[in-house]
Amino acid sequence: MPLNNVAVYPGSFDPITNGHVDLVQRTLRVFDRVIIAIATNPGKDSSLFSLEERLQMVREVFKAHDGRVQADSFEGLLVDYAESKRATVIIRGLRAVSDFEYEFQMAMMNHRLKPKLETFFMMTGESEFYISSRLVKEVVSLGGDVEGLVPENVLKKLQQKFKRRG
Ligand code: PNS
Repeated sequence: MPLNNVAVYPGSFDPITNGHVDLVQRTLRVFDRVIIAIATNPGKDSSLFSLEERLQMVREVFKAHDGRVQADSFEGLLVDYAESKRATVIIRGLRAVSDFEYEFQMAMMNHRLKPKLETFFMMTGESEFYISSRLVKEVVSLGGDVEGLVPENVLKKLQQKFKRRG
């Protein structure tokens, strides 16, 4: 193991789901620290939650983790961000076969850009494999219940968001 045992877990996290939480918890069995890195794309952002809201939700979820889980944001290339944090590994979750092509392309491109940076794939837990931020938002927007699929604080924020819009 490298001395600097830090993994970067990048994504949109719009919002964080129990699938993401499960993945972070399992990553902590292998790595000392996980940085949840929320990608920002100024001028081209169609996220439901603002960056600040997403960061706050992630921080609330992991506040009891003794600083082993950090939430941060980055702009630009993921590989540059990971290098700036001295991380050697990128973590990504794989749910179904349908995730594979997109993930494989990203992992290959990132490898080409920074060959020393590895991508580790974790299989999503069996009770979370169908959860996605996109579906969670759609279900709540149409009045459905997503309790148990997202952390409690996220559930409240989702309900507030769609109550205000409806
Ligand atoms: O949760 P998502 O939307 O699947 O995450 C995708 C993400 C943020 C990991 C990816 O779009 C990304 O790495 N964006 C940063 C820009 C970058 O490095 N692009 C080249 C990737 S090969």
